[in-house]
Amino acid sequence: MLSQKRTVLVLVAAVALLAPGQARAPTVQRAVGEDGDDREPPMVTETDPKYKIPDNFLIGAGSASYQSEGAWDKDGKGESVFDHYYHIAKVPTNMTGDIACNSYERYEEDIKLAAEMGLNSYRFSIAWTRIFPNGDINNKNDKGVQHYHNVIKAIKAHNMKPVVTIYHFDHPQALEDKFQGWMSDQMIQSFADFADFLFSEYGKEVEYWLTLNEPNMHCIMVYNGGLGPNIPKDQETAQNVYKCIHNEILAHAAAYRLYDKKYRKDQGGRVGMGALTFFARPNSTKWDDILAAERANLFEMGLIMHPLVFGDYPDVVKETLTRAGKLDHLPTFTDAQKKDIAGAFDFFGVNAYFGMTVADPNKGGESNVPGIAGGKGPRKDNNVTIVAIGDNKEPQYAGSTDVFGMINAWILRDMALWVKARFGPGVALFIAENGLGSFTEKSKDDWESRAVYHSAYLRELMRAVNEDGVNYIGYSAWAFLDDFEWSSGYTRYFGLVHVDYEHGTLDRTLKRSHYFFKRMMKDRSVPLVLPSSPADTSSATGPAIAMPSALAVVLAAAISLLSHDSS
Ligand SMILES: *[C@@H]1O[C@H](CO)[C@@H](O)[C@H](O)[C@H]1NC(C)=O
Ligand SMILES: *[C@@H]1O[C@H](CO)[C@@H](O)[C@H](O)[C@H]1NC(C)=O
Ligand SMILES: *[C@@H]1O[C@H](CO)[C@@H](O)[C@H](O)[C@H]1NC(C)=O
Repeated sequence: MLSQKRTVLVLVAAVALLAPGQARAPTVQRAVGEDGDDREPPMVTETDPKYKIPDNFLIGAGSASYQSEGAWDKDGKGESVFDHYYHIAKVPTNMTGDIACNSYERYEEDIKLAAEMGLNSYRFSIAWTRIFPNGDINNKNDKGVQHYHNVIKAIKAHNMKPVVTIYHFDHPQALEDKFQGWMSDQMIQSFADFADFLFSEYGKEVEYWLTLNEPNMHCIMVYNGGLGPNIPKDQETAQNVYKCIHNEILAHAAAYRLYDKKYRKDQGGRVGMGALTFFARPNSTKWDDILAAERANLFEMGLIMHPLVFGDYPDVVKETLTRAGKLDHLPTFTDAQKKDIAGAFDFFGVNAYFGMTVADPNKGGESNVPGIAGGKGPRKDNNVTIVAIGDNKEPQYAGSTDVFGMINAWILRDMALWVKARFGPGVALFIAENGLGSFTEKSKDDWESRAVYHSAYLRELMRAVNEDGVNYIGYSAWAFLDDFEWSSGYTRYFGLVHVDYEHGTLDRTLKRSHYFFKRMMKDRSVPLVLPSSPADTSSATGPAIAMPSALAVVLAAAISLLSHDSS
């Protein structure tokens, strides 16, 4: 084990030396867009090899069944937990996904538009309740089964690869009524049965499977974030957040091992697990701050990745919980389960939007924040002070103070370097979600915002690939359409494609940022798009960090490996 550590450390040192920090090389062409102008904005073909897109690299956009399909009770579909919840809750927007973008009926249009943008992959999720309306595997709904055959066929007919999410939060309400869904370990078998059916039915046509979308967000959203389908208030506890994550990890592993046993040989696909990151960097070069960043990351992404790589939760998490007298909040894996989950992934599907700057809490300060990055459980137990969320000095969407409007492109590089150092260079990463959500922008001209955003993130991602040797296999923008965004309803726009809710036609229009994707796919290289007016960074919060953060994150990983036996 010591020699294993030494190998990792040599690697860490090599990565650290090679990582030149955050320097950008702005060989700039400022792209100017005017509202209503639908010509291709000026862009320069990027010739620097560090922004080249590798062959076979997946570039696409994503959707999720509840958020875009609509047709909530059509053709034999059963009631999902979110159908149930939004029909009753009436909060915070009184909106539901009953109709959404009506992609259930308009999927062919969607897929055609994706192909027109030049995308080579298309991510969607399968609504459990279209296949098994009440969760019973003996009660299959043939129309629902046929629907996804049609979707997959249309994607492939347009020369794109389907990336299929098995579970994006919307399990049958019947399973919630029967045994409280993810609060019961019966859910593990139910999920494995559902996955088994999907592999057998669609597996010949699907190369990329994502089992569960970001459990570390889903479980907080449901058991602590007030978006609890049918969850009594007294069940919104930190314990239940951990329990939900725990059962979702076991459900993933069950599906993964089943794929190994029954399908891998014939189908040769890749099965991955989702995880969310709000990647944290340290507030200073002090060890205490570096260790705080390491704790924040281990309590976030580490809760999913560490078990799947090493077979158990990180020691740092257990020790921090022990100090707080809360170790019993975290469920434990049996020895048999540890064996089963270790190595049970072909790739990780990471959802990455913005980062954070954190510090050691010795000065006091906030260890918990309201909103999307807050909550009980892991995000409070990590014992860090959050100095800033979404801080940056990069060009950003002017005037945006919302975290989903900020450009923190550094996270795609720093997070990947951390994963490489912490979990090994072989770990394959797929950015399953990354995109700009705007409450205000209803226009189809998103050149100054969304094109700038995706250009910045994809350029950092390609640097991680081409300069740092990170094993990134793909990128899927969120979202393909302006869809139903959970607590924001139809008020926060993430789409590459505009959907006309205003006139109720749900007509689709490619937004102006599609020219960026089209050009990038033609060039196989990521063009630089900057806003026409210089970024206003005066409102950006947080300090400029003294140390290149890429260096800080690999050092943190090294320290943590030195002081703990992770295998
Ligand atoms: C939702 O609708 C109900 C009546 O249909 C109304 O009483 C309530 O104020 C609405 N809530 C919001 C947040 O609009
Ligand atoms: C973060 O760093 C800044 C600049 O060095 C310092 O003023 C501030 O006190 C630090 N914050 C915390 C919570 O340590
Ligand atoms: C949290 O961090 C502070 C400052 O480093 C430390 O004194 C305290 O013991 C930590 N608490 C826990 C529960 O780890």
